[in-house]
Amino acid sequence: MKILHIDSSCGLNPSVSRLASREVVDRLVQRTSGTVTYRDIGSNPIPHIDNSYVQAFYAKSDLSAEAIASGQRSERLIQELFDHDILVLGVPMYNFGIPSTLKAYFDHIIRPGFTFRFTDQGSEGLVKNKKCITVASRSGHFPANDGNHQDIYIKNVLSFIGIVDQKFEILEGLFDRAVRQNIINNIAETVEFT
Ligand SMILES: Cc1cc2nc3c(=O)[nH]c(=O)nc-3n(C[C@H](O)[C@H](O)[C@H](O)COP(=O)(O)O)c2cc1C
Repeated sequence: MKILHIDSSCGLNPSVSRLASREVVDRLVQRTSGTVTYRDIGSNPIPHIDNSYVQAFYAKSDLSAEAIASGQRSERLIQELFDHDILVLGVPMYNFGIPSTLKAYFDHIIRPGFTFRFTDQGSEGLVKNKKCITVASRSGHFPANDGNHQDIYIKNVLSFIGIVDQKFEILEGLFDRAVRQNIINNIAETVEFT
């Protein structure tokens, strides 16, 4: 079992999504004797896409050196995704959505001809037989999902490329300092993923 663990919080001291995603990964490793590739895109972001990437996105030939390099960065990230069985995401809510660092990662891996394609019946995701466990942290509560562009967005975007087997561990109400501290002190008891 090969696990790709990606943390996207910019916070470090401590970060609830980082602690909880680590707990999920530790349990997966114990259960499967799996190996882990770790990416900390909160601390070491992947560049946002730019004009050179858009060139590579739409064309295969007559590309500038920058466009070729941009396309190759995307292809390395896509290959890394294909090379793993399970994706574990640590994701704080920032301004009702996901961190821009995670959006930049998605922008690199959601690419026609690589992770999805168009057919006569509509789009088809090409990233088959993968699982994703998303650990989402946030200050507020979103009982009716009004204004929630965090886990709902991740569910949609990963389903689009074929990752339909998804689980979510939601840690919310962290605006309450006592709740937050209790979760930090008791992360093993808090995380429900088994
Ligand atoms: C820039 C920023 C924006 C945030 N926006 C929201 C928000 O829109 N809704 C919310 O419920 N919490 C919001 N929060 C709170 C975080 O989601 C919360 O503190 C969470 O624990 C952060 O994850 P972490 O502990 O892994 O860093 C925001 C925090 C930051 C730093």
